[in-house]
Amino acid sequence: EGLDGRPFSRQRLLVVANRLPVSAVRRGEESWSLEISAGGLVSALLGVKEFEARWIGWAGVNVPDVRGQEALTKALAEKRCIPVFLDEDIVHQYYNGYCNNILWPLFHYLGLPQEDRLATTRSFQSQFAAYIKANQMFADVVNQHYKEGDVVWCHDYHLMFLPKCLKEYNSEMKVGWFLHTPFPSSEIHRTLPSRSDLLRAVLAADLVGFHTYDYARHFVSACTRILGYEGTPEGVENQGRLTRVAAFPIGIDSDRFIRALEVPQVQDHIRELKDTFAGRKVMLGVDRLDMIKGIPQKILAFEKFLEENPDWRDKVVLLQIAVPTRTDVPEYQKLTSQVHEIVGRINGRFGTLTTVPIHHLDRSLDFHALCALYAVTALVTSLRDGMNLVSYEFVACQDSKKGVLILSEFAGAAQSLGAGAVLVNPWNITEVAASIGRALNMSPEEREKRHRHNFAHVTTHTAQEWAETFVSELNDTVVEAQLRIRQ
Ligand code: G6P
Repeated sequence: EGLDGRPFSRQRLLVVANRLPVSAVRRGEESWSLEISAGGLVSALLGVKEFEARWIGWAGVNVPDVRGQEALTKALAEKRCIPVFLDEDIVHQYYNGYCNNILWPLFHYLGLPQEDRLATTRSFQSQFAAYIKANQMFADVVNQHYKEGDVVWCHDYHLMFLPKCLKEYNSEMKVGWFLHTPFPSSEIHRTLPSRSDLLRAVLAADLVGFHTYDYARHFVSACTRILGYEGTPEGVENQGRLTRVAAFPIGIDSDRFIRALEVPQVQDHIRELKDTFAGRKVMLGVDRLDMIKGIPQKILAFEKFLEENPDWRDKVVLLQIAVPTRTDVPEYQKLTSQVHEIVGRINGRFGTLTTVPIHHLDRSLDFHALCALYAVTALVTSLRDGMNLVSYEFVACQDSKKGVLILSEFAGAAQSLGAGAVLVNPWNITEVAASIGRALNMSPEEREKRHRHNFAHVTTHTAQEWAETFVSELNDTVVEAQLRIRQ
């Protein structure tokens, strides 16, 4: 129960994110199939069950015709999803442009690619205008479905303007905003031409949440240094209005993974994998094919390990699942070619007539195949990552195997799984190569001890607990603000 006496399980929650948990594929004029979307945000949101939740977002397709829109709206309603229709130009300027070519690299400390720098600077204003327009379109849909007493929970860097748009409609709306990426140091944020507008728009929310304390601290510093507002232990204050800012580390639905390991189909997959890779140890990478995931660096570290450890060359394989993402953004296209080039070179160098050291797949896998794969050793070497829930999913699937997790110190997960994982600096391929050797040679006792720590964390800090904590804090924050006004 919250301070207002409302049981959370019956509270209506409007969850607004750019991407819905399901993406649509058109099969006919009025027929659609729905597939689970990729990414950490969706993997966490699917674990949020104890609310009467509705999801509002983009279904990942352009639907110009009214009949198609009506049919898709109907199909999505069965999944409690409500679509926001974005046309091609908005997707190009808002999603490919401002979100994924400007905010995403900046928030992950990657900067703009050299050759794009000037072009991006020129198109900045029109992309920012499209960003505001898109946020307003999301707000319109929220407003159509909002009922008094609902909690509106906005997600991620795509929707930083949404809290402002919503409060302009209705200042009584309970609005939370949560960022799934890192929030960078204020020195990085202040390079954005729209730095102040973005901060002010987010501050319209009642509660602002981040994965880690460091991200929350960076956000508060940006508000104090750039806007001149006051940072307090509670959050950010301006002219008597407080926006509460805090850390809420996300989790997964760990039971879903643990239960899947018992499913016969998964056990068959595991047996098949064991036969296929008999006599070899499997290192596993599962990432969206994104610059932040450090896939080229990981593969180069694996090459270094093979170079330095000839005895291991026919005894270890790197299985890299790279899920295609944001394929219309040129940077992602370049990354795909770069990864293919490196994999080809290393397989040419160390492969034999019958085996290659790297199996690289540009595709996603279904849930059961993924659970079976997780039953080995994982290599998560993100250059920066808000949290990285693949590392959590790997741990959840390890109860009998106790595989080793090699984890980047620049993933939010390093703060929660650091004691159990082998932490690495992904930019230092010598260190990552040495950690691969360490993981492969680790004693069963040490593996067990490390695994136990991580397993306890992943199974207690779940997605459900994360959502309950955030929503409860949001309810309390609103009640406290009302009390303050009355005093
Ligand atoms: C990250 C972001 C999510 C996003 C996901 C997949 O996890 O934080 O907001 O949905 O990547 O990316 P996409 O662009 O395909 O939605």
